[in-house]
Amino acid sequence: MGGMTRSALVTGGNSGIGLAVAEGLAKAGYKLWVTGRDADKGAQAVARLKPLASAGVEFLRGDFATAAEAKAFARDFKSRCGGKLDVLVCSTGVLNSKRRAAPDGTEETWAAQFLSRYILTEALTPELTAAGDGRVVYVTAPVVKSARLHEDDLNLTKGYSMLKAAQQGALACQLYIQSYAAAHAKGPAINAGHVGIVRTGIFRNMSGPIKWIFSLMAPLISISAERSAKNFIALASDPALAGVTGYFFPKPERLDKRDKIARDAAEQTQFERIRAKI
Ligand SMILES: NC(=O)c1ccc[n+]([C@@H]2O[C@H](COP(=O)([O-])OP(=O)(O)OC[C@H]3O[C@@H](n4cnc5c(N)ncnc54)[C@H](OP(=O)(O)O)[C@@H]3O)[C@@H](O)[C@H]2O)c1
Repeated sequence: MGGMTRSALVTGGNSGIGLAVAEGLAKAGYKLWVTGRDADKGAQAVARLKPLASAGVEFLRGDFATAAEAKAFARDFKSRCGGKLDVLVCSTGVLNSKRRAAPDGTEETWAAQFLSRYILTEALTPELTAAGDGRVVYVTAPVVKSARLHEDDLNLTKGYSMLKAAQQGALACQLYIQSYAAAHAKGPAINAGHVGIVRTGIFRNMSGPIKWIFSLMAPLISISAERSAKNFIALASDPALAGVTGYFFPKPERLDKRDKIARDAAEQTQFERIRAKI
């Protein structure tokens, strides 16, 4: 069986939706690595996953606060995974009402929601290609009309808002997916989906009126992490979705709803310019 075992790296897999995705993949027989910053949460996640993961599960601590840290993590991971990785699920993210940045200036949302995902996907493409049916899955939210890439101030030093930061990350993910899917038509496959509203640890850094609105709305419209995880588990592992690439899945638990990502050319050009500087 050894050679047949499929493997998955789930970033942000120590909590929330990432953990629920890891649980689904553990049950499906995947060998798992889950990541996060908090080692205690990592140990708890491993304790929960271990009885389900017949092929094994390991927590890898990684703070992707800067491009350099994400690159170092990717290098280390390449040496662990034996040259092949079937699935990369990226579920890292923060929602910060107050702007936070790493010592080198990298804004936290940009680092977690886009930069580290991009760096890991690029670095692990040879391993995902070696898998044959390699898949990349981004856990994200829909892009609204006002979303922009703040090309001259990606770290949002001026006029920061939580929504601006989250939307910039979600938009960059979509633009990258569009470009990656076009460049890798034969795989690895890459897709993203909407989490819905899920009560997880992500709300810990929220304050002010927006926290109020969320806490009033959440009980009415939120879904469980397990329900949110279903589309992502299928995107990672369902044989029926082999070859599907470049899509955004806007509705939790609705795989039949899917939109081919097709952002306009001007945005794409801007994204490629930003990417060239990373
Ligand atoms: N929940 C929602 O309603 C909602 C809505 C919109 C979008 N989303 C998106 O869904 C994704 C999953 O979020 P969630 O709700 O499951 O929240 P969560 O439970 O807080 O999970 C987020 C994960 O990201 C990790 N993380 C954050 N910053 C990191 C960094 N700099 N380096 C490495 N790991 C980092 C966290 O690790 P530690 O905890 O160990 O730090 C945690 O494992 C995120 O991208 C989030 O933006 C969620």
